[in-house]
Amino acid sequence: MTSLPASSVAPAALPKANDPCWCGSGRKYKRCHKKSEGRVLPGEVTPMRSVPPQINRPPYADTGEFVPYDEPRIKSPETIAKMRASGALAAEVLAKAGELVAPGVTTESIDLQIHEWFIERNAYPSTINYHGYPKASCTSVNEVICHGIPDSRPLQDGDICNIDVTGYHQGVHGDTNATFFVGDVDPESQQLVRVTEEATWKGIEAVKPGRPLSDIGRAIEDHVKPYRYGVVRAFVGHGIGEQFHTDIQVLHYYDSRASTIMRPGMTFTIEPMITLGTVNYKLWNDDWTAVTADGKRTAQFEHTVLVTDDGVDVLTGGPGAASPTAPWNR
Ligand code: MF3
Ligand code: CO
Ligand code: CO
Repeated sequence: MTSLPASSVAPAALPKANDPCWCGSGRKYKRCHKKSEGRVLPGEVTPMRSVPPQINRPPYADTGEFVPYDEPRIKSPETIAKMRASGALAAEVLAKAGELVAPGVTTESIDLQIHEWFIERNAYPSTINYHGYPKASCTSVNEVICHGIPDSRPLQDGDICNIDVTGYHQGVHGDTNATFFVGDVDPESQQLVRVTEEATWKGIEAVKPGRPLSDIGRAIEDHVKPYRYGVVRAFVGHGIGEQFHTDIQVLHYYDSRASTIMRPGMTFTIEPMITLGTVNYKLWNDDWTAVTADGKRTAQFEHTVLVTDDGVDVLTGGPGAASPTAPWNR
């Protein structure tokens, strides 16, 4: 006895939820392929990229192992000057990467450019071999919340694609991301992306010396509430400096326990992930790619910021940064 091979390509006319699935599995469509329709499919991932030996490497670059140590929360003026340089460099690479986003382009090819642009600027792409991560950026499409691995999937007209880049230069990291439109994007997704960027700036504008970190999450949450969007809780902003991630946690929602007082010289990221539906996530089998549990879309923006004597300095901002709603572009 032989059976017909199960088909792997969906037909143009899809079955009703309770009809048999088009693939020939014999299961109801709603229990079979309906779940994955419209979802991002994983592509092929090429091996880990290598960085030429003349580029100064962070300690985990050769082992993949991140061994945290205590570094001062308040940075010296010398460290701040270096972080300004690594922040500006990451911002420049991100803006250039955004220009590559178009239907048919693979995230793998965008990542390869990012890799080369960092190296040309004498910077190590911080994500490479960070806990074993293989690429120079994270590319998170549609329902991918964060940590998507660049792969062979061509971007499709109507996708939204977040690109997250971090560069290590003069011994310090600069971390920034933005969500870009691929061709013609539906109005619901356009609004999600716009409101997420606005919320990021509300969070940044809440940075003030003497105030608790919880002000940031409150400002973000207040901004998205009228739209009934979700604020992801499982991934948070982080202290940054000589190390990619330090002990400071920046929640993007209000929690009174986030009582750490912001002090001049502190550096951390603000990087809210905002969802159309649930804030719960699932991981792909690659153990990196985090997707919304309901498959609905999500957007993110990120900046590395410095607390100053009277407010905030955006180390990955400034004219030219990929931020249409940033204060200097409003
Ligand atoms: N850049 C990400 C962040 O904003 C971290 C990526 S770590 C990786 O914190 F290993 F997933 F690349
Ligand atoms: Co970050
Ligand atoms: Co980042």
